[in-house]
Amino acid sequence: MLHPILDALGLGEHNPGSYLGDGEWADSRSEPLLEVLNPSNGQQLATVSSATADEYERMMHAAAQAFVAWRALPAPRRGEAIRLCGEALRRHKDALGSLVSLEMGKVKAEGDGEVQEMIDIADFAVGQSRMLYGLTMHSERPGHRMYEQWHPLGLVGIISAFNFPVAVWSWNAFIAAVCGDVSIWKPSPKTPLTSIAATRICNAALKAGGFPEVFFLLNAAGTARAERLVDDSRVALVSFTGSSAVGRQVGVRVAQRLGRSLLELGGNNAIIVDATADLKLAIPAIVFGAVGTAGQRCTTTRRLIVHESIVDDVLNKLASAYAQVEKRIGDPLEAGTLMGPLIDRAAVQRFEATLEKARAAGARVVSGGKALERPGHYVQPTLVTDVEPTDAWVQEETFAPILYVMPYRTLEDAIVIQNGVPQGLSSSVFTKDLQVAERFLSASGSDCGIANVNIGTSGAEIGGAFGGEKDTGGGRESGSDAWKAYMRRQTNTLNYSDALPLAQGIRFDL
Ligand code: UN1
Repeated sequence: MLHPILDALGLGEHNPGSYLGDGEWADSRSEPLLEVLNPSNGQQLATVSSATADEYERMMHAAAQAFVAWRALPAPRRGEAIRLCGEALRRHKDALGSLVSLEMGKVKAEGDGEVQEMIDIADFAVGQSRMLYGLTMHSERPGHRMYEQWHPLGLVGIISAFNFPVAVWSWNAFIAAVCGDVSIWKPSPKTPLTSIAATRICNAALKAGGFPEVFFLLNAAGTARAERLVDDSRVALVSFTGSSAVGRQVGVRVAQRLGRSLLELGGNNAIIVDATADLKLAIPAIVFGAVGTAGQRCTTTRRLIVHESIVDDVLNKLASAYAQVEKRIGDPLEAGTLMGPLIDRAAVQRFEATLEKARAAGARVVSGGKALERPGHYVQPTLVTDVEPTDAWVQEETFAPILYVMPYRTLEDAIVIQNGVPQGLSSSVFTKDLQVAERFLSASGSDCGIANVNIGTSGAEIGGAFGGEKDTGGGRESGSDAWKAYMRRQTNTLNYSDALPLAQGIRFDL
């Protein structure tokens, strides 16, 4: 039976998965179908067709043509087009938020929050469309003027992950669109339904406003189409969100053809709690950071570094908060649920395998630690102590609600632990001590792309640049000046004199 949430968004039991442009959705059955499973009960929600190699080619051709028209529109007009997308998303927020929750398994409030993130970035992009500023320079030559301008880049490939199945696309696609680019989206094969719904909503808004459709969609099982996209020299920028292991391959392959890549890879985010911290703020921030989205955000809090004088108190408070969360694990769409399932069976197995290794080496599971005996991919939120900062399981990103708690003595030690992992995405300190806060934020403090004081590691606002260092990949997207990644910079020198002086004082007299 078709789930009513699918019905509300015009999705069926089977759905064409790829948008080829000119109103055409590809629905070839010659490739394996994507089977979409409901993570909260393991049952099939729908099937989605995979694009063939030929359909891929047709899509690229249509996208290249769309780019020629789109780049010629004034940027503020492109902003107007994205304003219409934001308005359409406002109208569909409840339905699309529910679909995110159903297909991905995050609780409804977080599903809605993800759509809100799309609306926010649409608003941001509208403003940005009038602020694609370049600098002007004073030429060293008389009668000359120098300036730079930012031009559209071309086709942008967006490869997104299951955990933020629509928001991360919109960060890329909306900013790219106001920059004059056309995007081709390859979503996670685990969440194709939200990609179809979001593409339809946004393209319909563009069409109704008399704009060309600039959001192409490529759903496919396996990795062949994604690899083609990565290697395709017609794609000027590949924006990839996913694991550090896959991101490393993407970065190398795009660099091989001298393309541009924007990498948003794994995080292993820590919160430092110093002895002065206000635990009324710290405890809820830690719990939301560690168990929100069932530990499947790239910004999830995975390590807690607590001053040794308060570690017992913090652990007691966390254990009682975790007990409350445990009572409210369940159907992500039900009101009051705080934690939904993991995405699939393999994720549960990784949760179990990680804890088994840690336990075998002497780690202590002080709360949770088990998968739940019920249909769906549910696990307990889990607190682990007696680990070393350098243990393999502490160093790796396990996409599950496991929090490692470690004591520290001096702030220097805490910062060494915080920075002592391969990843560098998000970090926080809870403190009332100004010196501690400033040292944490200083050049010798956190080495992450995001560093916060008295708020948690996850749930970043769209207005800042989002991304991180080291194995997180170095990319920045969303707000601030992240738009520059989606444009090409041109330096212009204009001579309005009657002479031709050379720079650097060089004389070349004929
Ligand atoms: C992600 O997990 O890939 O900061 C993105 C956050 C969200 C985005 C997370 N705004 O947690």
